[in-house]
Amino acid sequence: MSPEEVCDSVKAKIRPSEKEMEKLKKVGDEISRRMKSVLKDHRDIEWKFLGSYARNTWLRGQEEIDVFLLFPPEMDNEELEQAGLEIGKRLLDEYEISYAEHPYVKGRVMDVEVEVVPCYRIRHAGEMKSAVDRTPLHHEYLSDRIRGLEDDVRLLKQFLRANDLYGAEHKVKGFSGYLCELLILHHNGFLPLVRDAREWKRNTVIYPCEGKTEDDTFTVVDPVDPERNVAANLSLDNLARFVELCQDFLESPSEEFFFPRRHVPDREELGRIIEDRNTAILVLEFPRPELVDDSLYPQLDRALRKITMELERHDFEVMRDSRYSTDSKCYLMWECAHSQLPSIRLHSGPPFDLHKHAIKFRKKIRYGRPFIRDGRYMVYVKRKYVRPEECIVDMALNSDLGKHVSEKIRDEFVLYSGADVSEISDIRMHLYDFLSVRA
Ligand code: UTP
Ligand code: MN
Repeated sequence: MSPEEVCDSVKAKIRPSEKEMEKLKKVGDEISRRMKSVLKDHRDIEWKFLGSYARNTWLRGQEEIDVFLLFPPEMDNEELEQAGLEIGKRLLDEYEISYAEHPYVKGRVMDVEVEVVPCYRIRHAGEMKSAVDRTPLHHEYLSDRIRGLEDDVRLLKQFLRANDLYGAEHKVKGFSGYLCELLILHHNGFLPLVRDAREWKRNTVIYPCEGKTEDDTFTVVDPVDPERNVAANLSLDNLARFVELCQDFLESPSEEFFFPRRHVPDREELGRIIEDRNTAILVLEFPRPELVDDSLYPQLDRALRKITMELERHDFEVMRDSRYSTDSKCYLMWECAHSQLPSIRLHSGPPFDLHKHAIKFRKKIRYGRPFIRDGRYMVYVKRKYVRPEECIVDMALNSDLGKHVSEKIRDEFVLYSGADVSEISDIRMHLYDFLSVRA
């Protein structure tokens, strides 16, 4: 199949059905009706549909309506937050409070997910008080321009979602919805974008308009705020993965890029793979702190980095590390080249003819007696850890891994190692990816 044929066929599958469109339109009308009455007591507040519902760029089955409340800039922050929550609660059938830059209300209207986000009404980015204030400007910029390209936006979102690259949040560090729309607009379609992206580099700059860039960072200049990089949250590795996917897709186009078939290994298969490698595979499991993903993942990343650095410092040679979470559990994992090290390690000292240093070195009490090799002093010192497990347990119990993470670990943790990790059914697929075996 040609790439065009694949795209046409995929488009038909990801475009919302007539029924879905009608249903959302009905919910939108209901929201408008309710808003009119709710906002009677708040004459200075405007509201708008923004995001993918407003621009008809949501994916089939991913129904979600973003409602923004636009407050006058002179209103103070506290008042905005309080009124924002109150209006949200009155609008929605059921709700919960979420936290971004301001707290906002998330819930349902006629069984469709709706977010009610407060922001300040501004005319240009210079007046911005928080990042959400840009959102109405994004919509103003895109709403007419993106017309005719909606299905191409959907293709890109699906292509990214299928490969865990959709979303700018910490958990994913990928492409936001707005970034997708800008890229499609700038290249005038999905295929031209994918053709171009095959040659993107880490410092490529995409200029929907002239703007400021930092050297060495992949940048997409925000047309409504030329100081801002819309791709700021895209990680280097995810940029590289996207480039690879674009190359592969054009070389052998298929729908699998949009609807991947994931191999889920069973316990035996994973166990066998692990035993064959003869490395040290370790998984630290602990209860999930009561935090939303966007607060949790930065903490998991920090804790992971800290333990990895400690493993490296003690010579276990971390080949790869990763993190994962479910609703109830968190997992940090490592693959180390060494599952066991000698009890001692060789530590080198000064050459004999730097006499003052050499004498001082000799006088220090250590595990071994200093000896001379090639004119230089050497000595054996005792290692703190012989196995990576010891290092991880010590860190888990005694090191500050971030308030929430450390609290949970101290309540309860399990450290799995070797083929035992294949018992954890929650992470089997993630582990299979992590081990990166050729299928
Ligand atoms: P969404 O994440 O819902 O994106 O944010 P989207 O464009 O509607 O795409 P879908 O839903 O995945 O198809 C809606 C709007 O809110 C702003 C974004 O700029 C986006 O235009 N937003 C979202 C923020 O400003 N901050 C956030 O933390 C999240
Ligand atoms: Mn949305």
